[in-house]
Amino acid sequence: MTGWVAIAGLGPGAEALVTPEVTATLAEATDVVGYIPYVARVAERPGLTLHASDNRVELDRARHALEMAAGGRRVVVVSSGDPGVFAMAAAVFEALEAGAPEWRDLDIRVLPGITAMLAAAARAGAPLGHDFCAINLSDNLKPWALIEKRLRLAAEADFAMAFYNPRSKARPEGFARVLELLREACGDDRPVIFARAVSTPEERLTVVPLTEARPEMADMRTVVLVGSSLTRVLRDGARPLVYTPRSAPE
Ligand SMILES: C[S@@+](CC[C@H](N)C(=O)[O-])C[C@H]1O[C@@H](n2cnc3c(N)ncnc32)[C@H](O)[C@@H]1O
Repeated sequence: MTGWVAIAGLGPGAEALVTPEVTATLAEATDVVGYIPYVARVAERPGLTLHASDNRVELDRARHALEMAAGGRRVVVVSSGDPGVFAMAAAVFEALEAGAPEWRDLDIRVLPGITAMLAAAARAGAPLGHDFCAINLSDNLKPWALIEKRLRLAAEADFAMAFYNPRSKARPEGFARVLELLREACGDDRPVIFARAVSTPEERLTVVPLTEARPEMADMRTVVLVGSSLTRVLRDGARPLVYTPRSAPE
């Protein structure tokens, strides 16, 4: 049997937002590897072994997937959203680079998914309609000083911004500091969209001006979008319409 690894994005939560390519690849797999809540989204069936593991063991999980594929298994590594956005695709390539030379000859594919910021932006209108950037606010894998530097430069460049991993129980103060820094750099009126659990039954969208944004409005199931100076709010409430025009003045 020829083994392979597919690193697949399951989208933000709704079944309708899983791509047909990912569904078809899961149907061919012998093994699925991933973080517990993501593996739980894959239906069990005869011939399929589910390997769920805890957070923060991404490299172990990646090595396990590569070892199984080298042994002839057909392995899908699952991430939420898109696997290339703060997720397992880079972890698999890190393991590949440091691993057995023969792993580089394996059939390895990355299957895109709908990332949280795009699902959230679609729900809110088109807040990322002009230039934007995405920043992971977790300092697990990078120094906090680098996050602050990137935030300042993104604000100075007038990007709209998407923040992943905004606030966890282990790091409650970081996001408060982010809001403070943004108020200093962008003023009080900038629209902020808190998009929680997008495309799931617990979905909740809140749009507030920066001055009313509070750290407790975000948790680890929230992606936060911050407008540029040109972003407009046409309607707020539960079904907001927020957009950033396609052009910027000279
Ligand atoms: C480790 S990152 C994984 C991102 C994922 N690979 C993606 O492309 O969406 C986890 C973060 O993604 C965001 N996220 C994932 N799913 C979400 C959803 N359904 N609604 C809102 N934010 C979500 C949150 O910011 C969460 O803390």
